[in-house]
Amino acid sequence: MKIAILPFKLIIISSLIFTVLSCKNETTKPKHSTLNESIEIKVDSVLALMQINEKIGQLVQYSGKWNATGPSSTKGDQHKLEKLKKGEVGSMLNITSVASIRETQKIVMEHSRLKIPLIFAYDVIHGYKTIFPIPLGETASWDLNIIKQSAAIAAKESAASGLNWTFAPMIDVSRDARWGRVMEGAGEDPYLNAVVGVARIEGFQGDDLSHIYTIAACAKHFAGYGFGEAGRDYNTVNVGTNELHNTILPPFKAAAEAGAATFMNAFNDIDGIPATGHKILQRDILKGEWNWNGLVVSDWGSIGEMRAHGYAEDKKHAAEIALNAGSDMDMESYAYEAHLETLLNEKKISIHQIDDAVRRVLRLKFELGLFDDPYKYCNEQREKDNVYSKENLAVARDVAKKSIVLLKNEKGLLPLSKQLKSIAVIGPLADDKDSPLGNWRAKGEYNSAVSLLEGVKNAVGKNTKIHYAKGVDLTIPTIEPGANQFLLPLKFNTTDDSGIAKAVEVAKKSDVVLLVIGENAYQTGEGRSQTNIGFLGLQNELLEAVYKVNKNIVIVLMNGRPMDLSRASEIAPTILECWHLGSESGNAIADVVFGDYNPSGKLPVSFPHNVGQEPLYYNQKNTGRPYSNKHVTFSGYRDAPKKALYPFGFGLSYTTFSYGDLQLDKNEIKASGDIKVSVNVTNTGDRAGEEVVQLYIRDLVGSFVRPVKELKGFEKIMLNPGETKTVSFTINEKTLQFYTANNTWEVEPGKFNVWVGGDSTTTLKKSFSVVE
Ligand code: NOJ
Repeated sequence: MKIAILPFKLIIISSLIFTVLSCKNETTKPKHSTLNESIEIKVDSVLALMQINEKIGQLVQYSGKWNATGPSSTKGDQHKLEKLKKGEVGSMLNITSVASIRETQKIVMEHSRLKIPLIFAYDVIHGYKTIFPIPLGETASWDLNIIKQSAAIAAKESAASGLNWTFAPMIDVSRDARWGRVMEGAGEDPYLNAVVGVARIEGFQGDDLSHIYTIAACAKHFAGYGFGEAGRDYNTVNVGTNELHNTILPPFKAAAEAGAATFMNAFNDIDGIPATGHKILQRDILKGEWNWNGLVVSDWGSIGEMRAHGYAEDKKHAAEIALNAGSDMDMESYAYEAHLETLLNEKKISIHQIDDAVRRVLRLKFELGLFDDPYKYCNEQREKDNVYSKENLAVARDVAKKSIVLLKNEKGLLPLSKQLKSIAVIGPLADDKDSPLGNWRAKGEYNSAVSLLEGVKNAVGKNTKIHYAKGVDLTIPTIEPGANQFLLPLKFNTTDDSGIAKAVEVAKKSDVVLLVIGENAYQTGEGRSQTNIGFLGLQNELLEAVYKVNKNIVIVLMNGRPMDLSRASEIAPTILECWHLGSESGNAIADVVFGDYNPSGKLPVSFPHNVGQEPLYYNQKNTGRPYSNKHVTFSGYRDAPKKALYPFGFGLSYTTFSYGDLQLDKNEIKASGDIKVSVNVTNTGDRAGEEVVQLYIRDLVGSFVRPVKELKGFEKIMLNPGETKTVSFTINEKTLQFYTANNTWEVEPGKFNVWVGGDSTTTLKKSFSVVE
């Protein structure tokens, strides 16, 4: 008994002493290359008290189904309970609510020898209970302030519910629309993934991790997960040095520099080495070169999965590889708890490695303030006051409307007048209150979103008749709450067209049709790769039937990936890309449809003409035989265009913008110099509107072939009708450098092109040179 109590007292005493010592550092941002000395001393003091089983325990993360009445009695849960009591668990995921978290924390605090508090983690990807647009959609806002704000609200709701750690942001550059997890990131561009990722990290973590409304972020999946061959989830990744360093890693480097508290490794292998067992990535680059001191958690079961990869003989071998490679915490593989001690005795791993991993866990616990008060985040009143509040929903609506992209508006059909006599709202997603929540909706409640039908009804007056018809069912069965989506095959309705007649009837008698089609919530997300990115089920039939009787169609798309819109864009005068916009979806879409908000979103991914073009991205290499109209056999397709149907960076407004007077203040610089780029942007229409002004460069000759265009900056500006603003960018060493064939980041002298414009196809160009 004495042994059990004494060390805890020591921890409390040391904790008190160091609280005083560290006061002046308490609010500084946890940049993980610079250690907080006072925290390090505390970490060491705890580490010195720990036995080997307790150290290994800190490297274990379990998923739990705990609730206020305690763990259930299945064998697995009993095992977890015993481990918790012994202080042999470092973190739990998937336990939510203050009551459940307190109950679980209590097990450790009341029974374990050292009483080291648990960290509670959860996938808070785009909101906790107030659901924001899916990350891909939110990225389309190109508005880093609102992206940060949405992450901050997600953090506030989560922290108020007892959580400490989210597994977000995903910053995997994703270029294949077939991959289901495209929805979860910031699209196809490394720069955009970097800046959006940093905004999210800053939103989640704030300035101080110990604040009651902030949580630790997790940059994932390190690395290459977005490059799975053919868009198949978990698939093998074959990339070389250039692609790895210049495309995949830059967002992660930015995340490390921004002080992301944690990283998650990945399921995939990269050129034959599973990311979880990848020493070069985790130890040499992340923890070595980048000098990052945060915690690396494995992906779910990914340590054990190295057996299936054919990289580890058994779980013990897998544990050895993972720890040696720098995976600090084992999420649900049960490999570390079973084998690290034996591996240590056999000298296959070292105590130095274990201590280093444990330090990273303890450091985070101190930063979160959990040693000062393990129940710090457990306050029912705070939970009640902060979760799903009116204020949070208002921000969700604001973020949602800013995430919408107007792809086509040929006849100027939008915005609609609120005085129209009749509007038809048609389609399988028109009154769907669940799909707008998207996948990874954390605690978002089933059927809790505002549907578009509801949004339209909220927006118009009594004199406008709203005619609704579902037309067709999208999938059968609809996914019910609690169902394990990983076990459900998606079945599309391909036979029952009985609802189309009613859709035709209501379309006929309406001034305009809002046709709400696309994908339901669970068509994208983890394990949701598809070879067909068109309108599944009978949605095409519905579109054609409605089009026959009413040409005034606004297609309202709901989806989590780039879709094949070739036929839709041929016939529909207007297309509005609405992603899965979250809790306030219908109201936000109505804001745009009726012109209360002028759409300002731009695509973070290229939309192809058809799936055969995938992977499709604007920042390709040129090849030795670049595509040209003259040589149809060159680097393209003979049966389809090479370019995107809707390119990266593209999006319309209810007004128009013109670009002119592109200027560089110099034509020549040294590698360390800088160039100021300026351009005049004018609102040439008759409404105020926002434009995302984008800067691209091309390094014409490189020791590694450089992309035909690379995004290097953007600014979102508001212009009144007739107004002109001069927008400036600075190009410097950071803009121009890349990971060269010398295996280092440097600027190579030579010629560069620079473009500015409203999307990635801009032709407004100048050139300059970098000289020795
Ligand atoms: C597996 C996913 O790949 C990862 O992104 C997620 O955070 C974990 N499961 C935990 O749910």
